[in-house]
Amino acid sequence: MVNPLRSISGQTRVVGIIGDPVAHSRSPAMHNAAFAALKLDWVYVPFPVASRDVAEAVAAVRALGLAGLNVTVPHKEAVLPHCDTLTPLARRVGAVNTIVNRDGRLLGDNTDVYGFAQTLRGARLRMRGRHAIVLGAGGAARAVLAALAESGAARITLANRTPARAQALAARFRGARIHVVRLDALDDASLLADAALLVNTTSAALAGSDLPPIAYDATPARCQFVDLLYGHSTPFLSSAQRANRQTADGAAMLLHQGARAFSLWTGRRAPLAVMRAALAA
Ligand code: ATR
Repeated sequence: MVNPLRSISGQTRVVGIIGDPVAHSRSPAMHNAAFAALKLDWVYVPFPVASRDVAEAVAAVRALGLAGLNVTVPHKEAVLPHCDTLTPLARRVGAVNTIVNRDGRLLGDNTDVYGFAQTLRGARLRMRGRHAIVLGAGGAARAVLAALAESGAARITLANRTPARAQALAARFRGARIHVVRLDALDDASLLADAALLVNTTSAALAGSDLPPIAYDATPARCQFVDLLYGHSTPFLSSAQRANRQTADGAAMLLHQGARAFSLWTGRRAPLAVMRAALAA
């Protein structure tokens, strides 16, 4: 537990997260625990920022001398034009989740891609030459597609309620073999028969709505199911569990994207065990 009476001084480095909403975010607990564990005089603060205020919020990083920011829903795409430079990865993904203030110049990066790649590693899943199915084509799907494209997956099926949106996203990852289908096509057993991975990036569960039927039993017995949501038991994962498939939620992605952001800001190796425990608390 972080001491709420810790002293803040003129030396204290400040980082934070902008999003709407951010009150529920576990990132402050995770990062403040890491700062405490490494005895770093740093603090991580949640900043609720409405969409109309994104440009001013990013400019405030310079004005207030913040060391950096995390960016979460719904601002990951909106902050792009307000950064001074982007990493090639952030540019390719089209989303920034981490800003680093380098002497007043703001570098936009994307550590979600690493976070998702670590999720696959944690599940001991090698995607090279294999077939992945991604549900959803919104902001959260971007990092997943980038990580899968880098993983050497032979084929990616991108399933979305609105296929046109998936087509537009697929065009961003030219080079990866992405095939777009409607979300309700996933009840077709033949589509799932060689899938090594299904990833749910949709916000359907948050909205309390059900996904269309999916042929869970048609997947190979060792198929891995991942839902990016964290702290929710989603119908997607519970259905996969009923079919005796391996499942993982978004905890590993959250942990590892945070660990990489921590290292970018502080130059220190992130204390993973401390951060994992803070997330679980
Ligand atoms: P995020 O940044 O969290 O990905 P988003 O950009 O609003 O949020 O994208 C939400 C994704 O969940 C989209 O793929 C959306 O499908 P559409 O592109 O058709 O809108 C999907 N989604 C949201 N609610 C859904 C529902 N009830 N059923 C199926 N898909 C849903």
